[in-house]
Amino acid sequence: MKSNNFSIGIFDSGIGGASIWAEITELLPNENIIYLSDSKNAPYGEKSSQQIIDLSIKNTKFLLSQNCKIIVVACNTATTNAIKFLRANYSVPFIGIEPAIKPAALETKTNKIGILATKGTLNSQLFEKTSSTIDKQITIIEAIGKDLVELIEDGKTESLEMKKLLHTYLDPMLKKGVDCLVLGCTHYPYLIPHIREIVGNKIQIIDSGQAVAKQTKWILEKHNLLKIDKKVGTHQFYINKNKKVLEQILSKETSLLKIDEKDF
Ligand code: DGL
Repeated sequence: MKSNNFSIGIFDSGIGGASIWAEITELLPNENIIYLSDSKNAPYGEKSSQQIIDLSIKNTKFLLSQNCKIIVVACNTATTNAIKFLRANYSVPFIGIEPAIKPAALETKTNKIGILATKGTLNSQLFEKTSSTIDKQITIIEAIGKDLVELIEDGKTESLEMKKLLHTYLDPMLKKGVDCLVLGCTHYPYLIPHIREIVGNKIQIIDSGQAVAKQTKWILEKHNLLKIDKKVGTHQFYINKNKKVLEQILSKETSLLKIDEKDF
């Protein structure tokens, strides 16, 4: 089989990257996609950089064993800690996702940007490097979204606990006058309705999902790897814990997806 017909591989520490899968599917409906949800090892955000690299290697090997032509690291924590290693050690193209603080810096009028992300992302060298390029007039107010990923992975997105935690992280940003809020974790787009209730309509919520989909398309074009036939793509999901939560999230998309729970 010609490599154009191979799949796009996507991985995340859990179900968060399904928000990226949805963007890629919308932009590239003919592509076959394999999604890997490493929910058993979530959250990555509380792990050491080396542990995140090791898990990212495991996920990459699995996707390569399934003949993926490109790998999308649909996890800010894995991108900021491991993508450099992955690019240096594997020959397929890798697309990563980083918190969108640069676009937010172009949008802010108050010169105050809030960012909600995992500890692993906010403490990474790559995030520090990107932050250092932002105009010095702009203040970045960081909050570690501790326990948010666990609650989402446990299917508790609608819980009172979730709402309380979001207040704890977002209220101080509001007091400081942010007008842009960057969601620096692919799990967080699922929280947007709750976040909106807290921050109101005057604050821009910015995430990187669409940008990642566009970048994926551009890199496939550049490497001449876009799927050639015009048949609608197939979608295979692998998850190593509690497939029900993934099914719930994807049921909003379509019921025609294949979801397997297995160890990897
Ligand atoms: N979706 C991952 C991210 O974008 C979650 C990280 C975690 O597992 O802590 O950072």
